[in-house]
Amino acid sequence: MFESVTVPAALRPSDPRFGVGPSLIPTETVHNLARTGTSLLGTSHRKPAVRSVVRELQEGLRAYFKLPADYEIVLGNGGATFLWDMIGLGLVEQTSLHFVCGEFSDKWFRAHKNIPWIKATAEKVEFGQGIDPVARPGHDFLCCTLNETSTGVQLSTLPDLTDSRVLLGMDATSGAGQIRTDFQKVDVYYFSPQKVFASEGGFYVAFLSPKAIARAERLGQDLTRFVPECMKWSHAIENSRNNQTYNTPAISTIFLLNEQVKLMNRLGEDAVIREAKRKARLLYDWAEAKPYLSAFVRDPKFRSDAVATIDVDARFDVDQLAQALRAQHLAYDIDGYRKLNRNQLRIALFHNVTYENLEKLTQIISLMIEG
Ligand SMILES: Cc1ncc(COP(=O)(O)O)c(C=O)c1O
Repeated sequence: MFESVTVPAALRPSDPRFGVGPSLIPTETVHNLARTGTSLLGTSHRKPAVRSVVRELQEGLRAYFKLPADYEIVLGNGGATFLWDMIGLGLVEQTSLHFVCGEFSDKWFRAHKNIPWIKATAEKVEFGQGIDPVARPGHDFLCCTLNETSTGVQLSTLPDLTDSRVLLGMDATSGAGQIRTDFQKVDVYYFSPQKVFASEGGFYVAFLSPKAIARAERLGQDLTRFVPECMKWSHAIENSRNNQTYNTPAISTIFLLNEQVKLMNRLGEDAVIREAKRKARLLYDWAEAKPYLSAFVRDPKFRSDAVATIDVDARFDVDQLAQALRAQHLAYDIDGYRKLNRNQLRIALFHNVTYENLEKLTQIISLMIEG
């Protein structure tokens, strides 16, 4: 059905990568990496050349996010999935409360449930609905997900913590960089860089407040907890203070991430967020205008500015549509999160995915469906 539609050349996006992660890495950045020749790749991450890139990255992140001066930037291998366990093992005292609105927030919850000494509790909403996290007595760590990549739900409020012993953690993996966060309210903010920050996976960035550092230090002394060496916060913090990681990182990942941070710093967070909102409006207005489309997230205040999820009428099979788009190299990876099992489009609004290309994508899909 869809393959037979001829898409005019003028509608071809300049880049077909619309997936929510791994996301579009600009070819220019990859060329910049190639241009480093013999100076970075294949050299020691403990030596000045790589450490200076790590330092520049840490300074660039601090400037972009306008991080409070006493927050530390910790880097390491393993990605957000690895941090779920690292946080459970080394930052939760006894009880974590999880706000679950999709697969990733649920996976974080399940990671903590596996840890024998933690009591993990979840407040869940039906997928597609938003969630407003509220602090409840009896929990020492709150787990929020800034942007649920599986459902396209973003947070619209953060809880006010009245008890200074409680820490707030935020998985910001697919929202970091283009959904604003009040760092005064967040103690542990982390993300993997293969989303807005256009790098490769297998790496994490974590911002820790002084309260979080103090908790990590205190729990690190508790010898009754078994924590694998590679998951100890003490190693991660100490190495990050020296612009290093505990074990060997992929230098290309750090390089690509640093290039993207520099690119976004040239505009600044306000301009990046403004553009993200403009792209989100384009997608959700399109979904509202077409009778065969509807935004999966009903309440506009929870609709993501980073990942748009749009249901498609069952008469038009999204798998076939995605296949036809892929076969013609028009768009890659726009199908929904597989476990949601919906006839759904999921499209990245990340910084490198341009407004113009998104506009073309909407026109191509409309053309394919309407014939
Ligand atoms: C919100 C969120 N959290 C965590 C993860 C897991 O990240 P990683 O695969 O880098 O461990 C993802 C991956 O897509 C995500 O979207």
